[in-house]
Amino acid sequence: MTSVVLDRVVKKWGRFVGVNDVSLEIADGEFLVLLGPSGCGKSTTMRMVAGLEEPTSGEIRIGDRVVNDLAPGERDLAMVFQNYGLYPHMTIAQNIGYPLKVAGVPRQERMKRVQAAADRVELSEYLERRPHALSGGQRQRVALGRAIVRTPQLFLMDEPLSNLDAKLRVSMRAQIKHLQKELNTTTIYVTHDQVEAMTLADRVAVMAKGEIQQIGAPLDIYNRPANAFVASFLGSPSMNLFEMQVSDGELRNPSFRLRAPDNAPSALTIGQRPEDMAAVAPGEGDFDSEVYTAELLGDTALITVRIGHDLVSIKAPKDTGFRMGDRVGIRFDRDTLHYFDGVTGTRIEFETGGYAA
Ligand SMILES: Nc1ncnc2c1ncn2[C@@H]1O[C@H](COP(=O)(O)OP(=O)(O)OP(=O)(O)O)[C@@H](O)[C@H]1O
Ligand SMILES: [Mg+2]
Repeated sequence: MTSVVLDRVVKKWGRFVGVNDVSLEIADGEFLVLLGPSGCGKSTTMRMVAGLEEPTSGEIRIGDRVVNDLAPGERDLAMVFQNYGLYPHMTIAQNIGYPLKVAGVPRQERMKRVQAAADRVELSEYLERRPHALSGGQRQRVALGRAIVRTPQLFLMDEPLSNLDAKLRVSMRAQIKHLQKELNTTTIYVTHDQVEAMTLADRVAVMAKGEIQQIGAPLDIYNRPANAFVASFLGSPSMNLFEMQVSDGELRNPSFRLRAPDNAPSALTIGQRPEDMAAVAPGEGDFDSEVYTAELLGDTALITVRIGHDLVSIKAPKDTGFRMGDRVGIRFDRDTLHYFDGVTGTRIEFETGGYAA
């Protein structure tokens, strides 16, 4: 049973706070993804779990042990990094078997387990080669094979797919997910790619500026983002956000007005995902605009319009007739609007969905 607990963990360098008061509980066998923009503290958080970075304060537990004072080698975990970290002079078999060698596993046993790990990551044919003679994706699998050869109680993966091309990333993503479920090993995975987070995670922890913004199942976070930052970070294209002033029962901005929910604060940000908005005939929506671009994505079309300086994205059927420069009506779907406090950005749920204009 390997749960991982971070309890009010802080990392400071001088006065700079890299990770601020992060608390997290990761269940046995869970796949937890740390997601956030560059510099938000993901790697630092993971490196503290690994023992490569010492927390300024707070406690980290792996299983039932407090590990703050344990060296990385005493924590029974395996890491996979973005740059693979393979030994160029060793064969693939030696690379995969290295953790076993360090652990003093006898040669016969070692060979058996290297073979089994190589089978798992589909590298059996390459065991005698050296890393330079492999493709990026194959090298990535060597790093994975080396991580699983020892069956550690915890996997830590920091952007392990970012060096791969788009297609390979998708297939490796599926392999990692399958492998993690098969081995049922508790995993913490760092990425700034929201699609990777959505597809891999049992739960996602979204970080910004050293702090956790929201923790939850991917779909929960997508459907009910805790604040405007999370709303804009997940989804592609991201959620459309509009800053509105509230007066006389209306939400107003220079381009359009909508009925306000009851008890709305004086400044409210409304959000709607591109797939929930509709492009309709001029005059039939909530406001009219001009098509800035119309892009065929394959399964859908993406229509972009401008409101003031902001671009608004709408996903439309692929056979949409709209072309660049056309007048277009933009319609909100009342049932899927998101509301955020205009000042703090915090999500607000209104009791009366009072805004059926
Ligand atoms: N040794 C250090 N000394 C001072 N500041 C550091 C140190 N290591 C990291 N930082 C800072 O801490 C913050 C968090 O860094 P971290 O590497 O955790 O970000 P990240 O979320 O992994 O970003 P990325 O997606 O770019 O890898 C950054 O602002 C970084 O500059
Ligand atoms: Mg990082």
